[in-house]
Amino acid sequence: MAVYNFSDLKLSLWLLSFLVGIVSAQLSPTFYDTSCPGALKVIREEVAAAIRKEKRMGASLLRLHFHDCFVIGCDGSVLLDDTPTFTGEKTAFPNVNSLRGFDVIDKIKSRLESECPGIVSCADILTVAAKDSVNILGGNGWVVPLGRRDSTTASRDIANTDLPGPNLNLSGLAAAFSKKGFNVEELVTLSGAHTFGQARCRFFKNRIYNESNVNPIFAARLKRNCPPTGGDDNLGNLDALTPTAFDNAYYVDLKLKAGLFHSDQQLFNGGPTDHQVFVYSVNPFKFKKDFAKTMVKMGNLSPLTGLNGQIRTSCRSINP
Ligand code: HEM
Ligand SMILES: *[C@@H]1O[C@H](CO)[C@@H](O)[C@H](O)[C@H]1NC(C)=O
Ligand SMILES: *[C@@H]1O[C@H](CO)[C@@H](O)[C@H](O)[C@H]1NC(C)=O
Repeated sequence: MAVYNFSDLKLSLWLLSFLVGIVSAQLSPTFYDTSCPGALKVIREEVAAAIRKEKRMGASLLRLHFHDCFVIGCDGSVLLDDTPTFTGEKTAFPNVNSLRGFDVIDKIKSRLESECPGIVSCADILTVAAKDSVNILGGNGWVVPLGRRDSTTASRDIANTDLPGPNLNLSGLAAAFSKKGFNVEELVTLSGAHTFGQARCRFFKNRIYNESNVNPIFAARLKRNCPPTGGDDNLGNLDALTPTAFDNAYYVDLKLKAGLFHSDQQLFNGGPTDHQVFVYSVNPFKFKKDFAKTMVKMGNLSPLTGLNGQIRTSCRSINP
């Protein structure tokens, strides 16, 4: 007959909590404090350097994180290259010839691999780089929960179905965000990301030539670099007022009927979200605070933790 004494009990409780800890680990802002104390500084330095070289890169890095998180979860899946035997997400319609910043992530990863090999995940690098990008270009900073691990899979199909397209109407946008656990208010908040960065003519051509809820001066200016036929890859600014700053000007644009995409203007088109757009357009502090909070929620979408996934050595490929 087995009789447990007090220290056996303590030992098994400790073991139990250790195992539970491994299997259902939570994200924590201090995750790398002992294993790679310089990690956050390295990421911040490289993001700052990339933005010094090209301001748009901040927007591109934020979008990479969004496209990672909305496809299965924030697991670095968006970074995997296609190979003859593996189909990643880079060739999905919303991503192909569009996503940028992979080389910045590679540079960060290689510095971190030499400083603390096998410790910092690509999914965490993306999350912190998105925060630093927003912060460096004028948005708030926020505390990033850490400890995501990297996927060994990717899904081009889910990238094609779950990433929202620029021709969606308000109910389509609401449905795409609701599928990921966000309400309409959070949709309006996260859409403020379109306050910086650029887009290809193919995605706003129909809007500037054919739609009626569009500011004529704004449309005329864009038409100079986006002809009715051809020029599909020419770029236009998502925010006409302050194209490279992370501010609330996106919401001012919407009030002026100067949203670049059909989907952008849907948020201010006589419907239920007009009020929130108005509030953000006059209160940059509220927008930036809500944005930071909602980004933390987006970054927490279905992370791999504990024993799930892996820490990739190269963000572009699964470990051999
Ligand atoms: C609400 C639904 C959304 C739609 C329909 C949408 C659609 C798009 C499209 C079509 C582009 C241009 C792609 C190209 O021309 O190749 C774009 C760019 C961008 N999107 Fe979104 N997006 C949405 C939400 C978001 C969210 C939630 C974020 C981030 C939190 C985001 C961040 C960005 C950024 C920063 C750019 C510019 C990237 C660059 O300059 O490299 N978008 N988006
Ligand atoms: C929004 O778009 C969907 C799909 O294109 C369509 O079925 C629906 O009727 C539209 N809703 C509104 C309110 O226009
Ligand atoms: C404007 O709409 C017409 C009719 O739907 C379409 O054929 C044309 O391609 C559109 N023009 C642009 C520049 O998208």
